[in-house]
Amino acid sequence: EDLDLGGYPHYMAKEIQEQPESVERIIRGRLDDRFGVARLDGLNLTPRELRGFSRVKILGCGSAYYVGQVGATMIEELARIPADAEAASEFRYRNPIIEADTLYIAVSQSGETIDTAFAVEEIKRKGGRVVGLVNVVGSTIARACDGGVYLHAGPEIAVASTKALTNMAVGFALIALTLGRVRDLSNADGQRIIDAIRALPGQIKSILDFEPEIAEHAKTVAVAKSLFFVGRVRGYPVAREGAQKFKEISYRHAEAYQTSELKHGPLALIDEALPTVAVVPSDELTGRNLAAVQQIKARGGAVLAVTHENVDFGELDVPRIVVPKTEPELDPILLTIPLQLLAYHAALTLGYDIDKPRNLAKSVTVE
Ligand code: G6P
Repeated sequence: EDLDLGGYPHYMAKEIQEQPESVERIIRGRLDDRFGVARLDGLNLTPRELRGFSRVKILGCGSAYYVGQVGATMIEELARIPADAEAASEFRYRNPIIEADTLYIAVSQSGETIDTAFAVEEIKRKGGRVVGLVNVVGSTIARACDGGVYLHAGPEIAVASTKALTNMAVGFALIALTLGRVRDLSNADGQRIIDAIRALPGQIKSILDFEPEIAEHAKTVAVAKSLFFVGRVRGYPVAREGAQKFKEISYRHAEAYQTSELKHGPLALIDEALPTVAVVPSDELTGRNLAAVQQIKARGGAVLAVTHENVDFGELDVPRIVVPKTEPELDPILLTIPLQLLAYHAALTLGYDIDKPRNLAKSVTVE
């Protein structure tokens, strides 16, 4: 087993570092520059069928559900089809309305998560069309779906998922491109996204090069008993995933909120003892995000920002983790990477069992 670790102290560390190559694998052979499209033959959907969907519903559990939210936003932005994500564990129990013109997407690393597998069953029983975004080839969910996109992330051992999630997000970008290009997305915009996707592996590598700095930030945040992670729109699922990772392996109470909702309640909790990790991308919401950071700071709360180089924090005394800029639609992919390292190093500082956190299983195959 140690040999598989390839010199890394933990599988999680190894899998985080593998991301530049695993992203290369999911995009290999799937980008077509001539027409600014993605080639996803495994979806088994004709352009006519792709054009016929008027809604997209994404289902997954845990981190796969959060990355589903990232995917839903990408699909709405690039294809302008109403899209949302739901926890498969809830969906399967609420007598969901299955529509013939909805594309259902099941997301799962293992392909064996029982809640997601049952959701797929329910959709199929009621005549819905469901495709998979799955890592493990030939797994239960992959076989049950009508088609899909394999993640090609390679084996993921650590309970806390990293490289599979990143590939899910990239997979959603490919699906969004596919749905967009049979609708209103122009060839030029398709090409803009393709070029950005191609640049991701190198950009991820440059984030990983900052691991020592991120480890220092982790030592600071690991001291707190409780943490907020905040983001909005594209940044909100990033915050949810950041909080999830933190809870899973550092056993710290970490709660994600939409930055915009802070003032509607959670702000009451902010004081010197409750730091916030804020996702502050350079986009159309930067000003509003900075105003929220200012409100947190004014109440004595410490803030660590995950942000872009050109975001100007002015007088605000805020330590920053800077990630490279990509196209706005793809920002969540890169903003998530430092949060993996933050959780990893916090757990390392606290001395917990990183690859096998208490009470959790890699794949939940029983109810
Ligand atoms: C478990 C794991 C989570 C994972 C979820 C979905 O709860 O602890 O880390 O996100 O299952 O797993 P899947 O294999 O379906 O992606």
